[in-house]
Amino acid sequence: MAPVSFPAIELIRERFPILQQSDSHGRHVVYLDNGASAQKPKCVIDKELEVYSNYYANAYRGVYEFGQRIEDELELSRQSVCNFIGAESKEEIVFTAGTTMTLNLLAYAWGSHVLEPNDEILLSRMEHHANIVPWQMIAQKTGAKIRYVPLDEQHRFDMPAFEKLINSKTRIVSLTGMSNVLGATIPVKRVAEAAHSVGAVFILDAAQSIVHQQIDVVKQQVDFLAFSGHKIYGPSGVGILYGKKELLEQMPPFLGGGHMIDRVFEDHSTWAAVPAKFEAGTLPIAQAIALRPAIVLIQEIGFEWIEQHERELLVRATEQLQEIPGLKIYGPDVREKGAIISFTVEGAHPQDLAFLLNRHGVCVRHGHHCAMLLHEILDVSATVRASFGLYNTLQEVDRLAEAIQQARVKLRLA
Ligand code: ALA
Repeated sequence: MAPVSFPAIELIRERFPILQQSDSHGRHVVYLDNGASAQKPKCVIDKELEVYSNYYANAYRGVYEFGQRIEDELELSRQSVCNFIGAESKEEIVFTAGTTMTLNLLAYAWGSHVLEPNDEILLSRMEHHANIVPWQMIAQKTGAKIRYVPLDEQHRFDMPAFEKLINSKTRIVSLTGMSNVLGATIPVKRVAEAAHSVGAVFILDAAQSIVHQQIDVVKQQVDFLAFSGHKIYGPSGVGILYGKKELLEQMPPFLGGGHMIDRVFEDHSTWAAVPAKFEAGTLPIAQAIALRPAIVLIQEIGFEWIEQHERELLVRATEQLQEIPGLKIYGPDVREKGAIISFTVEGAHPQDLAFLLNRHGVCVRHGHHCAMLLHEILDVSATVRASFGLYNTLQEVDRLAEAIQQARVKLRLA
């Protein structure tokens, strides 16, 4: 693997104003909580400012100049999402509030459309709560049952077990593309093919995976896809539902209100065409528009570079952390996972560890990471997680390892 040159990463870092700041102790901040939310490049910040400063109005409602400009910008952004994920048309792209909103929409709207008592919904043990709880809610309403694909001994998605669990009662397969704790991935196309072979739809929760790996919904045969703007260097408050057009057309709406109707009668209404049918009320306008520069930035850098760079970070972090006495890394081998590393240190509570890492300017997440079912399998109530982004450096990985060593000294473990 050819090394990624340092100047390249410096040029990327320059585009993120927050990375130029120091913390209150004058230290360069090592931000390793990208799995929770990624930092924003100037182009995204500038775009939101441009919207509010130059042409803000509500969308799809005014024929005046600002209203038309907003609509044009939103449609440009919708088209960029369409291109980014390889969808066939921009009508297949719905703006939502984020991954959680998208998954709730799908659970409620698609779930109530297709589920009957004893039908099955297939999830895995490594889902985060946004891809578990909405399905529990709809299962309770419809009498459907949830089944969970286990993980194998190396904490990988257990494909043979999945193939045994899927059956003619399976109506929905909804899986994360990358565990937010383990970094474990799934073979997306094989899973989609298996779902289709029993007549089920395949939902890909791409909240974590989309920023690390190229997605192509057509080639990978994804029926519905969910992701959030804020994890791909875009604004918070906006997310995406992708759905194959014929499925979006079949699916009843989730939220009722303005813009999603065709006609309103006293006792019923008819629906607008997709995607408007799923965009009731006022959209997160500036955020949806400012998603486009984030996508353009990722495309400019390219997934080839991103994957290679993040692999180097992950390999270095794994090598260094493995050397630390009492430190246990959870998840598959480094070759089989994305740029996320969760660990515990014997004798140190994850919260204390995260607190002490912060004293060295290293930002990580601790806790169950909204994945309690997974932590049950890991047999710990909490872990510490370092999740990498395209702007992280090998030097920052070294800072993480040094900070853990210092924390062990502070806790009298070394
Ligand atoms: N799901 C996000 C995380 O993993 C919030 O941190």
